[in-house]
Amino acid sequence: MTFEPEGKMAKRVLITGASGLLGRAIYKEFLQDSSWETLGLGFSRVTGNMKKVDITEESQVKDVINTFKPSVIIHSAAERRPDVVEKDPNKTQQLNISATQYICQAAKSVGAWVLYISTDYVFDGTSPPYNEDAKPNPLNKYGQSKLEGEKMTLETSSENSLLRVPILYGEIEYIAESPVTILFEKILAGSELIASDYEIKYPTHCGDIAYVIRQLAEQRLQNPEKVCGVFHWTSNEKMTKYLMSIAMASAFSLGTENILPDKNPSTGAPRPYDTHLSCGKLEALVSGRRTPFADGVKAVLEPFVKK
Ligand SMILES: NC(=O)c1ccc[n+]([C@@H]2O[C@H](COP(=O)([O-])OP(=O)(O)OC[C@H]3O[C@@H](n4cnc5c(N)ncnc54)[C@H](OP(=O)(O)O)[C@@H]3O)[C@@H](O)[C@H]2O)c1
Repeated sequence: MTFEPEGKMAKRVLITGASGLLGRAIYKEFLQDSSWETLGLGFSRVTGNMKKVDITEESQVKDVINTFKPSVIIHSAAERRPDVVEKDPNKTQQLNISATQYICQAAKSVGAWVLYISTDYVFDGTSPPYNEDAKPNPLNKYGQSKLEGEKMTLETSSENSLLRVPILYGEIEYIAESPVTILFEKILAGSELIASDYEIKYPTHCGDIAYVIRQLAEQRLQNPEKVCGVFHWTSNEKMTKYLMSIAMASAFSLGTENILPDKNPSTGAPRPYDTHLSCGKLEALVSGRRTPFADGVKAVLEPFVKK
């Protein structure tokens, strides 16, 4: 383990995927707390003090972890688009599974705790709500790859943790970046949008997840025995993509007549019907925050709407 001179665990956090949708929010959350020494890793979109590391290269992973010696690693980088995963199993194997193995092994050698970011797509969606020890049964290759990553994380060290989250939105670099805000492209253009009104989703703000992650990391350093295993975090607003679309249009007083509900299961990679996550274990440890969808989505889309 890495110890500070006075015997305290160093507050050094390494964040993979710090240039991505969720990773940026986590990176920002830790950077604004000067008690943490924070290193963010990116790949093709490195900015500022972030470090470019290809986490599919074991030697690069070892180098950065052995040099920085984090006490906490938040592993957010992944291929998270189900349809891309179906088409590119090799890339998915490397990024979602092999890279996780390299990170967990290197973490173990420096005594770092790993929090692996996972997904509600490890569940089949037939019997919500899912608590932390519910049995996963992924329906698509993305969910399977994330479940493999989960197993890798916990098998490398039973001290490690997982955090499963549902569909995300947050501060975006472009409208299509999040699977929620991408729906707004056609709404803004006034084109017809046929949006799924079948699968149930709980769109969750990345900032809310980052907020609970920082608290969880603090808890881990103070009470390691209380912080291991599986955690869940989600909003509790039950929506379909159709209802999210209506909410986004309404937030900017845009017409909703071109938004049409599709009552059938989504095409492409199979999607679970309702994966509502129970968050009791995390709620008992941290003070959570759940930004109302209408407020959160308005704030993140505002910069893209011409006044
Ligand atoms: N988005 C969602 O709705 C959602 C829902 C549930 C769970 N999750 C989980 O949340 C986590 C974060 O997802 P996200 O939406 O933030 O994904 P994202 O926006 O697609 O970001 C992916 C991140 O992975 C990095 N990356 C890709 N290839 C890499 C490589 N070879 N080496 C190092 N880094 C690499 C990217 O870096 P560059 O961009 O710099 O190349 C980027 O920072 C994932 O584990 C995902 O499974 C996401």
